[in-house]
Amino acid sequence: MEKIEFDLNGPDVMKLSWLLSNGQVFMLSCTNAEKTVNGIITVCWITPTSHNPLLLSVSIGNGEEGTEAYRFCHSLIIETKEFGLNIPTTELTEAIFKVGTTHSNEVNKYAEAGLTPLPGKKINAPLIAECFMNIECKVIVNYITGDHTVFVAKPVAAFMNEDMIVNGKFSDKYHDKKNQVQICDLITMWNMW
Ligand SMILES: Cc1cc2nc3c(=O)[nH]c(=O)nc-3n(C[C@H](O)[C@H](O)[C@H](O)COP(=O)(O)O)c2cc1C
Repeated sequence: MEKIEFDLNGPDVMKLSWLLSNGQVFMLSCTNAEKTVNGIITVCWITPTSHNPLLLSVSIGNGEEGTEAYRFCHSLIIETKEFGLNIPTTELTEAIFKVGTTHSNEVNKYAEAGLTPLPGKKINAPLIAECFMNIECKVIVNYITGDHTVFVAKPVAAFMNEDMIVNGKFSDKYHDKKNQVQICDLITMWNMW
């Protein structure tokens, strides 16, 4: 196959970001200091960064309101330095879409997306009951990387559906990629490219 140069400054550069995304899609839950405003944001720019200690990073848009990179949840995480990371299966695809296309200061995403808040154990932010795994995280450092902020966080508590690991085996119901929400499937489904 012949190679042609990809224009890093051209209109297709967003496609490169999607291509470089790891794949799996998550919902991150957060709240404000007074616990009066709950936020949920769909995210795919998440990766583990260390086994020992267990750490992960998530990249969240930090743009001004009205700009493409505006995420209301960014302000909540800056304020509280904590969030819940919730892992969905494909049954939650519609909810993921609703959460990923609206702002938490404008709609109650729990009500609109049919999600149930569960109290956290070590964080104030609620967790999402319908997700099969919920990981409570505390932010230890954050870096501004252009129009996103990378939050490096430490899991401090985690909960899973009781059938996720049975006799030491990771259940196919959750482990099999076809039951996980993948960014490539959403791109196809929503004709994002
Ligand atoms: C499939 C998908 C993946 C997304 N991944 C991210 C991401 O990794 N980081 C991010 O900042 N926004 C991501 N978004 C965009 C936010 O979810 C979206 O802007 C959301 O409306 C922000 O909600 P908020 O204003 O309540 O924070 C993604 C959206 C979708 C649909």
